[in-house]
Amino acid sequence: MLLIFDIISIGLVKYIMFKILKKKFLNKSVSYMKLCAPLVATNAQAGQFLILRVDEFGERIPLTIFDYDREKGTVDIIYQKVGATTLKLDRKQEGEYLLDVVGPLGNKSKIKGFKKAIVISGGLGSAIAYPLAKELKLNGAKTTAILGFRNKDLIILENKMKKITDEIEVVTDDGSNGKKGLVTDSLIKKLEKCCNYDLIISIGPIPMMKAVCEITKKYNIKTIVSMNSIMIDGTGMCGGCRLTVGGKVKFACVDGPDFDGHEVDFQEAIMRNNSFVNQERKSYEKYCNLFKGV
Ligand SMILES: Cc1cc2nc3c(=O)[nH]c(=O)nc-3n(C[C@H](O)[C@H](O)[C@H](O)COP(=O)(O)OP(=O)(O)OC[C@H]3O[C@@H](n4cnc5c(N)ncnc54)[C@H](O)[C@@H]3O)c2cc1C
Ligand code: FES
Repeated sequence: MLLIFDIISIGLVKYIMFKILKKKFLNKSVSYMKLCAPLVATNAQAGQFLILRVDEFGERIPLTIFDYDREKGTVDIIYQKVGATTLKLDRKQEGEYLLDVVGPLGNKSKIKGFKKAIVISGGLGSAIAYPLAKELKLNGAKTTAILGFRNKDLIILENKMKKITDEIEVVTDDGSNGKKGLVTDSLIKKLEKCCNYDLIISIGPIPMMKAVCEITKKYNIKTIVSMNSIMIDGTGMCGGCRLTVGGKVKFACVDGPDFDGHEVDFQEAIMRNNSFVNQERKSYEKYCNLFKGV
Protein backbone atom coordinates (compact mmCIF):
# COMPACT_ATOMS: atom_id res chain seq x y z
CA MET A 1 0.00 0.00 0.00
CA LEU A 2 2.79 2.37 1.04
CA LEU A 3 4.60 1.58 -2.21
CA ILE A 4 1.50 2.50 -4.25
CA PHE A 5 1.24 5.83 -2.40
CA ASP A 6 4.93 6.45 -3.02
CA ILE A 7 4.57 5.75 -6.74
CA ILE A 8 1.50 8.02 -7.00
CA SER A 9 3.12 10.85 -5.07
CA ILE A 10 6.36 10.64 -7.08
CA GLY A 11 4.27 10.75 -10.27
CA LEU A 12 2.29 13.72 -8.92
CA VAL A 13 5.41 15.61 -7.85
CA LYS A 14 6.82 15.17 -11.35
CA TYR A 15 3.58 16.52 -12.83
CA ILE A 16 3.39 19.46 -10.44
CA MET A 17 7.07 20.30 -10.78
CA PHE A 18 8.25 21.85 -13.98
CA LYS A 19 10.59 19.82 -16.15
CA ILE A 20 13.27 21.47 -18.29
CA LEU A 21 12.70 19.82 -21.66
CA LYS A 22 15.39 21.68 -23.59
CA LYS A 23 18.26 24.04 -22.80
CA LYS A 24 20.52 25.98 -25.16
CA PHE A 25 23.16 28.68 -24.69
CA LEU A 26 22.46 31.63 -27.02
CA ASN A 27 25.67 33.43 -26.05
CA LYS A 28 27.96 33.51 -23.02
CA SER A 29 25.42 35.26 -20.81
CA VAL A 30 22.04 34.35 -22.32
CA SER A 31 20.30 30.95 -22.32
CA TYR A 32 17.07 29.46 -23.62
CA MET A 33 14.88 26.86 -21.89
CA LYS A 34 11.76 24.96 -22.92
CA LEU A 35 9.71 24.11 -19.84
CA CYS A 36 6.85 21.72 -19.32
CA ALA A 37 4.11 23.97 -17.86
CA PRO A 38 0.75 22.93 -19.37
CA LEU A 39 -1.47 25.23 -17.32
CA VAL A 40 0.66 28.28 -18.16
CA ALA A 41 0.80 27.33 -21.86
CA THR A 42 -2.98 26.90 -22.10
CA ASN A 43 -3.65 30.53 -21.27
CA ALA A 44 -0.46 32.32 -22.39
CA GLN A 45 -0.69 35.36 -24.68
CA ALA A 46 1.97 37.59 -26.23
CA GLY A 47 3.27 40.16 -23.75
CA GLN A 48 2.65 38.07 -20.63
CA PHE A 49 5.22 36.75 -18.21
CA LEU A 50 5.69 34.02 -15.62
CA ILE A 51 7.30 33.99 -12.20
CA LEU A 52 9.49 31.03 -11.29
CA ARG A 53 11.40 29.68 -8.34
CA VAL A 54 14.36 27.43 -9.04
CA ASP A 55 14.17 25.64 -5.67
CA GLU A 56 12.71 26.03 -2.19
CA PHE A 57 15.51 28.42 -1.14
CA GLY A 58 15.13 30.57 -4.24
CA GLU A 59 13.58 33.99 -4.81
CA ARG A 60 10.80 34.53 -7.32
CA ILE A 61 11.90 36.05 -10.62
CA PRO A 62 9.73 37.30 -13.50
CA LEU A 63 10.59 36.20 -17.05
CA THR A 64 8.72 36.88 -20.28
CA ILE A 65 6.93 34.01 -21.99
CA PHE A 66 9.06 34.01 -25.14
CA ASP A 67 6.89 31.42 -26.87
CA TYR A 68 4.41 28.67 -26.02
CA ASP A 69 2.84 25.54 -27.46
CA ARG A 70 -0.65 24.92 -26.12
CA GLU A 71 -0.90 21.38 -27.52
CA LYS A 72 2.41 20.23 -26.13
CA GLY A 73 1.93 22.16 -22.89
CA THR A 74 5.29 23.92 -23.09
CA VAL A 75 6.54 27.46 -22.56
CA ASP A 76 9.88 28.89 -23.69
CA ILE A 77 11.97 31.39 -21.73
CA ILE A 78 15.16 33.28 -22.51
CA TYR A 79 17.15 34.69 -19.61
CA GLN A 80 20.31 36.66 -19.06
CA LYS A 81 22.60 35.71 -16.19
CA VAL A 82 22.76 38.95 -14.21
CA GLY A 83 22.61 37.85 -10.56
CA ALA A 84 22.27 35.02 -8.07
CA THR A 85 18.92 33.61 -9.21
CA THR A 86 19.56 33.67 -12.96
CA LEU A 87 22.95 32.01 -12.29
CA LYS A 88 21.23 29.37 -10.16
CA LEU A 89 18.66 28.81 -12.91
CA ASP A 90 21.44 28.37 -15.43
CA ARG A 91 22.99 25.54 -13.37
CA LYS A 92 19.88 23.47 -14.06
CA GLN A 93 20.15 21.03 -16.95
CA GLU A 94 17.76 19.38 -19.39
CA GLY A 95 15.72 16.72 -17.58
CA GLU A 96 15.89 18.51 -14.22
CA TYR A 97 12.94 20.31 -12.59
CA LEU A 98 12.13 23.83 -11.39
CA LEU A 99 10.19 24.14 -8.14
CA ASP A 100 7.38 26.34 -9.45
CA VAL A 101 6.29 28.33 -12.45
CA VAL A 102 3.33 30.68 -11.97
CA GLY A 103 1.55 32.33 -14.86
CA PRO A 104 0.61 33.64 -17.24
CA LEU A 105 0.82 36.99 -15.42
CA GLY A 106 0.33 40.55 -16.61
CA ASN A 107 -1.76 41.71 -19.53
CA LYS A 108 -1.57 40.52 -23.08
CA SER A 109 -0.27 43.17 -25.44
CA LYS A 110 -2.83 45.40 -27.12
CA ILE A 111 -1.28 45.69 -30.57
CA LYS A 112 -4.16 45.08 -32.96
CA GLY A 113 -5.10 47.49 -35.74
CA PHE A 114 -1.66 48.93 -36.50
CA LYS A 115 -0.43 49.12 -40.09
CA LYS A 116 3.26 50.01 -39.94
CA ALA A 117 5.41 49.48 -36.89
CA ILE A 118 9.01 49.57 -35.70
CA VAL A 119 10.14 47.23 -32.93
CA ILE A 120 13.34 48.44 -31.24
CA SER A 121 15.21 46.36 -28.74
CA GLY A 122 18.45 46.55 -26.80
CA GLY A 123 20.38 43.44 -25.70
CA LEU A 124 18.20 40.90 -23.89
CA GLY A 125 15.22 43.15 -24.76
CA SER A 126 15.05 41.23 -28.08
CA ALA A 127 13.72 38.21 -26.18
CA ILE A 128 10.94 40.31 -24.66
CA ALA A 129 10.23 42.11 -27.96
CA TYR A 130 10.05 38.91 -30.07
CA PRO A 131 6.53 37.79 -29.00
CA LEU A 132 5.21 41.31 -29.66
CA ALA A 133 6.82 41.48 -33.11
CA LYS A 134 5.30 38.08 -33.88
CA GLU A 135 1.88 39.28 -32.75
CA LEU A 136 2.16 42.42 -34.90
CA LYS A 137 2.94 40.27 -37.91
CA LEU A 138 -0.01 37.94 -37.17
CA ASN A 139 -2.24 41.03 -37.05
CA GLY A 140 -1.06 42.17 -40.48
CA ALA A 141 1.26 45.06 -39.59
CA LYS A 142 4.29 45.77 -41.77
CA THR A 143 7.06 45.51 -39.22
CA THR A 144 10.65 46.72 -39.08
CA ALA A 145 12.95 45.47 -36.32
CA ILE A 146 15.96 47.41 -35.06
CA LEU A 147 18.06 45.29 -32.70
CA GLY A 148 21.00 46.75 -30.80
CA PHE A 149 23.81 44.92 -28.97
CA ARG A 150 27.10 45.96 -27.37
CA ASN A 151 29.11 43.74 -29.75
CA LYS A 152 28.65 40.90 -32.26
CA ASP A 153 29.21 38.14 -29.68
CA LEU A 154 26.10 39.28 -27.83
CA ILE A 155 23.74 39.19 -30.83
CA ILE A 156 20.73 36.93 -30.24
CA LEU A 157 17.57 36.02 -32.18
CA GLU A 158 18.60 37.72 -35.45
CA ASN A 159 17.36 34.83 -37.63
CA LYS A 160 14.18 34.31 -35.63
CA MET A 161 13.34 38.02 -35.90
CA LYS A 162 14.07 37.96 -39.65
CA LYS A 163 11.37 35.32 -40.14
CA ILE A 164 8.61 37.40 -38.52
CA THR A 165 9.46 40.92 -39.73
CA ASP A 166 9.55 42.64 -43.12
CA GLU A 167 12.86 44.39 -42.53
CA ILE A 168 15.56 44.05 -39.91
CA GLU A 169 18.61 46.06 -38.94
CA VAL A 170 21.13 44.85 -36.36
CA VAL A 171 23.54 47.43 -34.96
CA THR A 172 26.36 47.13 -32.44
CA ASP A 173 27.90 49.80 -30.18
CA ASP A 174 31.42 48.89 -31.34
CA GLY A 175 30.60 48.11 -34.99
CA SER A 176 31.99 44.55 -34.68
CA ASN A 177 29.17 43.18 -36.89
CA GLY A 178 29.88 45.82 -39.54
CA LYS A 179 27.04 48.17 -38.50
CA LYS A 180 28.17 50.59 -35.83
CA GLY A 181 25.66 52.75 -34.02
CA LEU A 182 22.91 53.00 -31.46
CA VAL A 183 19.33 51.90 -32.07
CA THR A 184 18.26 55.53 -31.67
CA ASP A 185 20.51 56.56 -34.63
CA SER A 186 18.78 53.96 -36.84
CA LEU A 187 15.36 55.03 -35.60
CA ILE A 188 15.99 58.70 -36.42
CA LYS A 189 17.14 57.75 -39.95
CA LYS A 190 13.99 55.68 -40.53
CA LEU A 191 11.68 58.41 -39.22
CA GLU A 192 13.42 61.09 -41.31
CA LYS A 193 12.90 58.98 -44.45
CA CYS A 194 9.28 58.03 -43.76
CA CYS A 195 6.98 59.05 -40.95
CA ASN A 196 3.81 57.07 -41.60
CA TYR A 197 4.57 54.60 -38.80
CA ASP A 198 1.65 54.23 -36.42
CA LEU A 199 3.37 52.24 -33.66
CA ILE A 200 6.81 52.00 -32.09
CA ILE A 201 7.62 49.28 -29.54
CA SER A 202 10.76 49.86 -27.49
CA ILE A 203 12.14 47.22 -25.12
CA GLY A 204 15.49 47.15 -23.36
CA PRO A 205 17.40 49.04 -20.68
CA ILE A 206 15.32 51.89 -19.21
CA PRO A 207 17.65 54.67 -20.50
CA MET A 208 17.27 53.26 -24.04
CA MET A 209 13.46 53.16 -23.80
CA LYS A 210 13.50 56.73 -22.43
CA ALA A 211 15.67 57.93 -25.33
CA VAL A 212 13.40 56.25 -27.90
CA CYS A 213 10.32 57.85 -26.34
CA GLU A 214 11.90 61.32 -26.46
CA ILE A 215 12.41 60.88 -30.22
CA THR A 216 8.98 59.40 -31.01
CA LYS A 217 7.19 62.09 -28.97
CA LYS A 218 8.45 64.69 -31.45
CA TYR A 219 6.89 62.65 -34.28
CA ASN A 220 3.75 62.03 -32.24
CA ILE A 221 3.89 58.24 -32.80
CA LYS A 222 2.32 55.95 -30.19
CA THR A 223 5.13 54.17 -28.33
CA ILE A 224 4.80 51.10 -26.14
CA VAL A 225 7.49 50.15 -23.62
CA SER A 226 7.73 47.04 -21.45
CA MET A 227 8.63 47.89 -17.85
CA ASN A 228 10.97 45.40 -16.19
CA SER A 229 10.33 46.58 -12.64
CA ILE A 230 11.46 44.63 -9.62
CA MET A 231 8.65 42.21 -8.82
CA ILE A 232 7.86 39.97 -5.88
CA ASP A 233 4.32 38.56 -5.91
CA GLY A 234 3.37 39.57 -9.47
CA THR A 235 -0.28 39.97 -8.44
CA GLY A 236 -0.53 43.63 -7.40
CA MET A 237 -0.22 43.10 -3.64
CA CYS A 238 3.37 43.92 -2.60
CA GLY A 239 3.82 47.27 -4.37
CA GLY A 240 7.37 46.35 -5.46
CA CYS A 241 6.74 47.12 -9.13
CA ARG A 242 5.12 50.53 -8.56
CA LEU A 243 5.51 53.08 -11.34
CA THR A 244 4.09 56.48 -12.16
CA VAL A 245 2.37 56.55 -15.54
CA GLY A 246 0.50 59.66 -16.70
CA GLY A 247 0.77 61.03 -13.15
CA LYS A 248 -1.04 57.99 -11.72
CA VAL A 249 0.26 55.10 -9.62
CA LYS A 250 0.44 51.88 -11.63
CA PHE A 251 1.78 48.40 -10.92
CA ALA A 252 3.79 46.83 -13.72
CA CYS A 253 2.59 43.32 -12.83
CA VAL A 254 -1.17 43.91 -13.06
CA ASP A 255 -1.46 47.13 -15.09
CA GLY A 256 1.43 46.27 -17.45
CA PRO A 257 4.07 45.22 -18.21
CA ASP A 258 3.37 47.30 -21.37
CA PHE A 259 2.70 51.02 -20.99
CA ASP A 260 2.44 54.14 -23.12
CA GLY A 261 6.09 55.22 -23.11
CA HIS A 262 5.21 58.90 -23.42
CA GLU A 263 3.49 58.73 -20.03
CA VAL A 264 6.05 56.77 -17.97
CA ASP A 265 8.15 58.52 -15.32
CA PHE A 266 11.44 56.84 -16.34
CA GLN A 267 13.57 58.74 -13.81
CA GLU A 268 11.55 57.28 -10.95
CA ALA A 269 11.64 53.80 -12.56
CA ILE A 270 15.47 53.93 -12.78
CA MET A 271 15.70 55.00 -9.14
CA ARG A 272 13.36 52.25 -7.94
CA ASN A 273 15.13 49.54 -10.00
CA ASN A 274 18.43 50.54 -8.34
CA SER A 275 17.02 50.27 -4.79
CA PHE A 276 18.64 46.92 -3.97
CA VAL A 277 21.91 47.13 -5.90
CA ASN A 278 24.05 46.50 -2.77
CA GLN A 279 21.99 43.52 -1.64
CA GLU A 280 21.98 42.13 -5.22
CA ARG A 281 25.78 42.43 -5.41
CA LYS A 282 26.24 40.71 -2.02
CA SER A 283 23.91 37.89 -3.00
CA TYR A 284 25.75 37.48 -6.35
CA GLU A 285 29.15 37.31 -4.58
CA LYS A 286 27.81 34.87 -1.97
CA TYR A 287 26.40 32.64 -4.71
CA CYS A 288 29.64 32.74 -6.77
CA ASN A 289 31.70 31.87 -3.66
CA LEU A 290 29.58 28.75 -3.13
CA PHE A 291 30.83 27.37 -6.44
CA LYS A 292 34.43 28.58 -6.35
CA GLY A 293 36.60 25.76 -7.60
CA VAL A 294 33.63 23.52 -8.43
C1 LIG B 1 7.77 41.51 -16.57
C2 LIG B 1 9.23 41.19 -16.61
C3 LIG B 1 9.72 40.38 -17.59
C4 LIG B 1 11.08 40.05 -17.63
N1 LIG B 1 11.51 39.24 -18.63
C5 LIG B 1 12.80 38.86 -18.65
C6 LIG B 1 13.25 37.92 -19.63
O1 LIG B 1 12.49 37.42 -20.46
N2 LIG B 1 14.56 37.57 -19.59
C7 LIG B 1 15.43 38.08 -18.65
O2 LIG B 1 16.62 37.71 -18.66
N3 LIG B 1 15.03 38.97 -17.72
C8 LIG B 1 13.74 39.35 -17.69
N4 LIG B 1 13.31 40.19 -16.71
C9 LIG B 1 14.30 40.66 -15.70
C10 LIG B 1 14.56 39.52 -14.69
O3 LIG B 1 13.41 39.32 -13.91
C11 LIG B 1 15.77 39.89 -13.79
O4 LIG B 1 16.92 39.95 -14.58
C12 LIG B 1 15.95 38.85 -12.69
O5 LIG B 1 14.93 38.98 -11.73
C13 LIG B 1 17.30 39.05 -12.02
O6 LIG B 1 17.41 38.17 -10.93
P1 LIG B 1 18.84 37.81 -10.31
O7 LIG B 1 18.66 37.32 -8.93
O8 LIG B 1 19.59 36.92 -11.24
O9 LIG B 1 19.61 39.18 -10.32
P2 LIG B 1 19.49 40.34 -9.23
O10 LIG B 1 20.49 40.11 -8.17
O11 LIG B 1 18.07 40.53 -8.82
O12 LIG B 1 19.92 41.59 -10.11
C14 LIG B 1 21.20 41.64 -10.75
C15 LIG B 1 21.26 42.85 -11.66
O13 LIG B 1 20.16 42.84 -12.60
C16 LIG B 1 19.36 44.01 -12.42
N5 LIG B 1 17.93 43.66 -12.41
C17 LIG B 1 17.26 43.00 -11.43
N6 LIG B 1 15.95 42.89 -11.72
C18 LIG B 1 15.81 43.52 -12.91
C19 LIG B 1 14.72 43.77 -13.74
N7 LIG B 1 13.47 43.41 -13.40
N8 LIG B 1 14.95 44.41 -14.91
C20 LIG B 1 16.16 44.83 -15.26
N9 LIG B 1 17.25 44.63 -14.50
C21 LIG B 1 17.07 43.99 -13.35
C22 LIG B 1 19.74 44.57 -11.08
O14 LIG B 1 19.59 45.98 -11.02
C23 LIG B 1 21.17 44.17 -10.91
O15 LIG B 1 22.03 45.07 -11.57
C24 LIG B 1 11.97 40.56 -16.65
C25 LIG B 1 11.47 41.39 -15.64
C26 LIG B 1 10.12 41.70 -15.62
C27 LIG B 1 9.59 42.58 -14.53
S1 FES C 1 5.03 42.59 -8.05
FE1 FES C 1 3.98 43.06 -6.26
S2 FES C 1 2.62 44.64 -6.83
FE2 FES C 1 3.59 44.07 -8.68
